[in-house]
Amino acid sequence: MNTRQEKLSQLEDNIKEAELGGGQARIDKQHKVGRKTARERIDDLMDKGTFVELDKFVTHRAHDFGMEKNKFLGDGVVTGYGKIDRRLVYVFAQDFTVFGGSLSRANADKIIKVMDLALKMGAPIIGLNDSGGARIQEGVESLAGYADIFYRNVMSSGVIPQLSAILGPCAGGAVYSPAITDFIMMVKETSYMFVTGPEVIKTVTHEEVTQEELGGAMTHNSKSGVAHLTADDDEQAMMMLRELLSFLPSNNMEDPPMKVCTDDVNRLDNSLCELVPVDPNKPYDIKELILKVVDQKHFFEIQPHYAQNIVVGFARMGGRSVGIVANQPAMLAGVLDINASTKAARFVRFCDAFNIPLITLEDVPGFLPGTAQEYGGIIKHGAKLLYAFAEATVPKITLITRKAYGGAYDVMSSKHIGTDVNFAYPTAEIAVMGPDGAVNIIHKGRLSEEERAKAVDEYRKNFASPYKAAQLGYIDEIIKPNETRMKLIQALEMTQTKSKQNPAKKHGNIPL
Ligand code: HXC
Repeated sequence: MNTRQEKLSQLEDNIKEAELGGGQARIDKQHKVGRKTARERIDDLMDKGTFVELDKFVTHRAHDFGMEKNKFLGDGVVTGYGKIDRRLVYVFAQDFTVFGGSLSRANADKIIKVMDLALKMGAPIIGLNDSGGARIQEGVESLAGYADIFYRNVMSSGVIPQLSAILGPCAGGAVYSPAITDFIMMVKETSYMFVTGPEVIKTVTHEEVTQEELGGAMTHNSKSGVAHLTADDDEQAMMMLRELLSFLPSNNMEDPPMKVCTDDVNRLDNSLCELVPVDPNKPYDIKELILKVVDQKHFFEIQPHYAQNIVVGFARMGGRSVGIVANQPAMLAGVLDINASTKAARFVRFCDAFNIPLITLEDVPGFLPGTAQEYGGIIKHGAKLLYAFAEATVPKITLITRKAYGGAYDVMSSKHIGTDVNFAYPTAEIAVMGPDGAVNIIHKGRLSEEERAKAVDEYRKNFASPYKAAQLGYIDEIIKPNETRMKLIQALEMTQTKSKQNPAKKHGNIPL
């Protein structure tokens, strides 16, 4: 064998060794618990054959605990770049088969390298997390590695989309990198996130809780609101990340990609005329309206299990990506509470950062009353949503389908906080409060039952309609429900060239 041949075969051996990670036994263990390996996940995520791996032969540089004799090529994380729908994307995937995917200095440097490249090139970065946390043998070097990653997460925030998938353990301070990214996907039953685990909790607070209850996918998707999406398995998680990315631009200087629209932009839907019930207290499902008006009935909902009284997500209209924010009358009458406000505020800010027009569908009886909400800071949290809508400079279009009461009218992307096009259905009721409440206050205890009913009726006719707001120019057009799709798409087209800048400042002071 000539030397050149020997060198080539040595390279091939090294590649094989690196690609085997922590070895077949550990790969089998990973499969046995229903998880894929880092490389299998990347394979599912990227367009076939486009992944280019970097730093395949990096090893750790630790000496304590006999670590110098215990090295694996790649050191527990697979990093590189490739394409998703033919667009450049960077990725790092923690490899649980090598030291439990734990973060060493060398392993952190690999992640930092792809993060820096992603920011420089203006391309999204996806982190596939599956790690036992800080590499215990490396101590503060590992902590430094985490902080270097967190710093880059913050610098990249609002510049390139950052997506995280949690596909195994993610505990301790390690949770803060995903937490700073734009969206967190979790896989049911195989992933968990917590700052302190069940054992520590038992010692400190004497609470007994399982890993799944404490930090499983459904906990963070329905209770804490930390996560945004769930998948049944690793493969589905990768498919969903690909889809999510399809709605987003590669960076904050670009517009989201246009898709060819085969759904008629002028399509009328007469069933929409029947959707909003005549009885203002009767619920209906706002997702029905969304599905009837967006391209191909396709809506990619974000946080579908959390604060279900507000619905947020991505869709396309006339081929253009839009972010939809909609009160949900089918859940708590669509009231705004703390969780709904923070859920929607974060979504609005994401869309604004990445040039995604906002469509707001409004049917809201107001803010939720009660001590729990007041003590929890509904003033501060509701203000977040107001702030987010007001500072957003992307095209903003609002449609009031029914109730727009009180402060919630102002907050939900009203004309007064810079919305470009405001529509209302003839069924809209725009008023300081609902007719019953208004009559109770204005005529406090002075009316018979019959007089009261008459006064409520009168109030509804005179004040709880869209016409007062339309007279004042606060509503641009009262539209027929069957034309909703056409009207929204026309408004999107009209606002396409919008150019608006807020006053120059270091940054605003959103009420956190
Ligand atoms: C080094 C680690 C490791 C770690 C796991 N391993 N975690 N090596 N540093 N943090 C290794 C194990 O030694 C083992 O090696 C292999 O990974 C698989 O681990 P197992 O325990 O066999 O797997 P499993 O039973 O599935 O349990 C997974 C686990 C557990 C729950 C994650 O390993 C665990 O509790 N690890 C420690 C978690 C932890 O306390 N991390 C530090 C958190 S503090 P072999 O060779 O046997 O395969 C932190 C601070 C970050 O992260 C701060 C940032 C600001």
